[in-house]
Amino acid sequence: MKKYVKVIICLAVLAGIALFVKSRWNAWFGNIPEMPYAASPMPDRITLTPGEDFMTQRTVSWRCGDTLAQSALTLVGAGDSVVLQADGVVVESRGGRDAFYCARLDSLRPGAEYRYRVSTGSVQSATHSFVMPSEDKPWRRFIFFGDVQDTVGGRSGQWFAKLYRQFPDADFWACAGDLVERPIDAYWNYFYSTADSILASLPLLTATGNHDYLKSLYPSIDPRWRHTFVYPGNGAATAIGISYYIDLPDLRIMVFDSHGINDCVTLAARYRWLRDCLRGADGKWKVVMYHHPAYSVRASRNNLQIRNTFVPLMEKYGVHLVLQGHEHGYMRNIGTRGDHPVYIVSYMSPKAYPARDPAPGFKVIGGTPMYHTVDYDDTEMVFRSYAVDNDSLVDSVTVSRFMTDSF
Ligand SMILES: [Fe+2]
Repeated sequence: MKKYVKVIICLAVLAGIALFVKSRWNAWFGNIPEMPYAASPMPDRITLTPGEDFMTQRTVSWRCGDTLAQSALTLVGAGDSVVLQADGVVVESRGGRDAFYCARLDSLRPGAEYRYRVSTGSVQSATHSFVMPSEDKPWRRFIFFGDVQDTVGGRSGQWFAKLYRQFPDADFWACAGDLVERPIDAYWNYFYSTADSILASLPLLTATGNHDYLKSLYPSIDPRWRHTFVYPGNGAATAIGISYYIDLPDLRIMVFDSHGINDCVTLAARYRWLRDCLRGADGKWKVVMYHHPAYSVRASRNNLQIRNTFVPLMEKYGVHLVLQGHEHGYMRNIGTRGDHPVYIVSYMSPKAYPARDPAPGFKVIGGTPMYHTVDYDDTEMVFRSYAVDNDSLVDSVTVSRFMTDSF
């Protein structure tokens, strides 16, 4: 081949690559701007999260202003009130500064109701309450949903209110990430306008999704995220606060950050962390939640990193239920240990993407935002999928806890 032909081919290839990168630049690296804002001078974004021991520990976080001040949580009782000092930190975002606080509550009594308010400087919140789960329930329930990513004026506020009303017996809500549309103050405000009073009373477990990150070659989690959702510090060394596990009497739920895995070192650290968590959950129900699904609703080639790394691990250690999001469609498939792991992809968002290319044996439903109840006792876990718009049951699956423990 003549030299000038080779040069033309090389230039054409480079031009093709350049055009492709240009077309994807915004999707990969483009962050929407964050307008300047001032944090409210009153406590807001009050959020209840569980400690590692779900039955006895809670953390309450809130935001108030943009400079630190003496802050506390007051447990309001029939007799004397108990005052707990709060830790504070100022976070710089692209649009402003926020002072976040958190107070940790230990040794809470199963079955007891606690009323509290938070204060920063001379201002304080309204009184909120939460009820600790009782120990002697014959079965337990939690609610799961995938990506929310609502935009201002959407329906998620109605959906949250309905779930809270219909399932007062749920121990907690779990979300597989992308709770907020983008990491800017306006969307945080909107999210809290839809769920504010609920989040102060019902523990929320959420994973991180790509929409919780600022885009770049090495994406970084929104600096507000860890101080808004304060989880136990039992996560992977590279992901404290965005990976964690929570223990209930008969269940361990493990949550890990699937978006911030940019290199082999991080991948290995997450792998070792999950492996150790699974070993420590021996004999319990094992539930794993993260954002990017192992098996894709949209294309079989997607998500090979998760599939090739974490699926063999979860299968080896007998995970029962895997909760995933990201793809704005519903999919259920079942692994190789008899009736589990059950892999779920779901979303509860106005934003829906087409579902296509399902593998044989995979149940796929597109265009139907859903919520899910997860009910379990000593031996069985029942996962039910409901259309959030009309509460119709669209799918269900039952998992046996001990069926394959001899694998
Ligand atoms: Fe996502």
